[in-house]
Amino acid sequence: MNVIRLADLIAQGRVAGKRVFIRADLNVPQDDAGRITEDTRIRASVPCIRMALDAGAAVMVTSHLGRPTEGEFKPADTLAPVAARLSELLGREVPLVSNWVDGVTVAPGQVVLLENCRVNKGEKKNDPALARKLAALCDIFVHDAFGTAHRAEASTYGIAQFAPIACAGPLLAAEIDAVTKALANPKRPLLAIVAGSKVSTKLTILQSLATKVDGLIVGGGIANTFMLAAGLPIGKSLAEPDLLDQAKSVIAAMKARGAAVPIPTDVVVAKAFKADAPATVKLAADVADDDLILDIGPQTAATLAAQLKAAGTIVWNGPVGVFEFDAYAHGTETIARAIAASPAFSIAGGGDTLAAIAKYGIEKDIGYISTGGGAFLEVLEGKTLPAFEILAARAAG
Ligand code: 3PG
Repeated sequence: MNVIRLADLIAQGRVAGKRVFIRADLNVPQDDAGRITEDTRIRASVPCIRMALDAGAAVMVTSHLGRPTEGEFKPADTLAPVAARLSELLGREVPLVSNWVDGVTVAPGQVVLLENCRVNKGEKKNDPALARKLAALCDIFVHDAFGTAHRAEASTYGIAQFAPIACAGPLLAAEIDAVTKALANPKRPLLAIVAGSKVSTKLTILQSLATKVDGLIVGGGIANTFMLAAGLPIGKSLAEPDLLDQAKSVIAAMKARGAAVPIPTDVVVAKAFKADAPATVKLAADVADDDLILDIGPQTAATLAAQLKAAGTIVWNGPVGVFEFDAYAHGTETIARAIAASPAFSIAGGGDTLAAIAKYGIEKDIGYISTGGGAFLEVLEGKTLPAFEILAARAAG
């Protein structure tokens, strides 16, 4: 995708002394006291801010936090904890600015954080009047918020329409590059793992990937529905029987292309959904009426691990079992370690997937870890995200 990149503008000497507005995604989880519990997105946003500062820009950064009510700022909406963490990471004070829509004072070489942009009236609906005001604050708009790239809001889309220059920051650019490498020009075989509790929430992803991948590994409740579609018993496991036809058509679409959806041959079952519920390994054909499938079995895990180790590209979204319970984590751990050991280029995304990657300490062995939640899923659906669409349109003139 052809977009202008911040790095190009810097190389051309077009950033020094300019007012640069960076839309980051600093939407991080917090505990009840407002403390940040996971700061990946803040750390991932630092390179862009540093680049702009080092290039001599006057830097404004903003993000949404949560889903506040527009026009009604509440203490819980504040980016203050983010400003504090950003200050630590940048090794300099990052002042937090409120009520900034009508003007921001910032000098070249300085950085300020603009309070939660989703509190501004008109943000969600991409109100053109608000977008024009945001655009008037800057000479260069930098979209570096991949996590929000699937939203067309005033600070992500409208501002990109109206700013004198609109470009992609290094995080957004890296995400574009990784997704292109994985899905547009993949080294084959291309394997995708799509796991999660419901087929319904990932049906369009399964259908889209079924036209591209050489192997589509399903896991969790999604696998249970596919097992049902393959005529296997699943006891009282979570599944969506009304989506059997859709599951069957995904299997058929893959088969027609000479590709496959591997159906588990063995599983780990329990009689109750509890961490200490005794775990029993069974052949998939032997699942009893009162069994709950909570993980893939060792035979299935070994088969999938061998396929992953021989892959050219791997796309990973979702753990294949209830990995939060140790007795049901073996499948996800085997898959995770196989991806880590594989020479394939791998891209992973989604909250649970990132938690599994952290649990097994394999961050360094994944080719690219996406910061997107919903945005990553929409990319897997084959959609062109609004952020990419508008930046490409601006680059085209
Ligand atoms: C996310 O957490 O996925 C992004 O920050 C987007 O948040 P949203 O779903 O509230 O737009």
